[in-house]
Amino acid sequence: MVKLTGFKKVKTAVFISGTGSNLKNLIRFSKIKNSPISIDLIFSNTIKAKGLRFSDQFNIKQYVSSFKDSKVSEAKILNLLNKENIKLICLAGFMKILSKNFIKDFSGKIVNIHPSLLPKYKGLDTHIKAIQNKDEVAGCTVHFVTAKLDSGKIILQKEVKISEKDTPTSLAKKVLRQEHRLYPAAIKKIFN
Ligand code: GAR
Repeated sequence: MVKLTGFKKVKTAVFISGTGSNLKNLIRFSKIKNSPISIDLIFSNTIKAKGLRFSDQFNIKQYVSSFKDSKVSEAKILNLLNKENIKLICLAGFMKILSKNFIKDFSGKIVNIHPSLLPKYKGLDTHIKAIQNKDEVAGCTVHFVTAKLDSGKIILQKEVKISEKDTPTSLAKKVLRQEHRLYPAAIKKIFN
């Protein structure tokens, strides 16, 4: 994987599509002295992503491209990532699927957080599925991104108990709280 050189933090881009609570959490983490990463770019496939506000708030470059033509968007992003010397990509609620070619160019340098205990419940609606199946535990996973959806090597996982009262919304909140602990821990693990 990416190796730390000297004391320089690894330049990182975070890809989002929505609220950006994981983004905000990663920005906070990046500012800790011993954090291995700095967040230097925020990418979103939609201007509507609430998380883009953290670009202004923390003075981090942002870039938006719609993915209507994913090839064009990916080419533009790759250009920018290279220009900005980005060495790690963290997907944080990014709801588009990156192409094989894009992933190949950043092989071993893209990580994702997913709201389930992979390999269980790849894709969407993980909390609905967990509750419908009467699972006793749900959770979240940080993994490397490969061309196969939600299937790359797992870095860390955290279980969350499902109570009888849980709805998909309450479960999502509980899992998200754990995501905020898990993502920084997984990044530390990558660089150790
Ligand atoms: C998080 O729960 C994340 O795990 C999930 O979207 C949410 C984004 O929240 N990601 C996926 O479902 C990816 N397939 P956030 O925008 O507040 O970080």
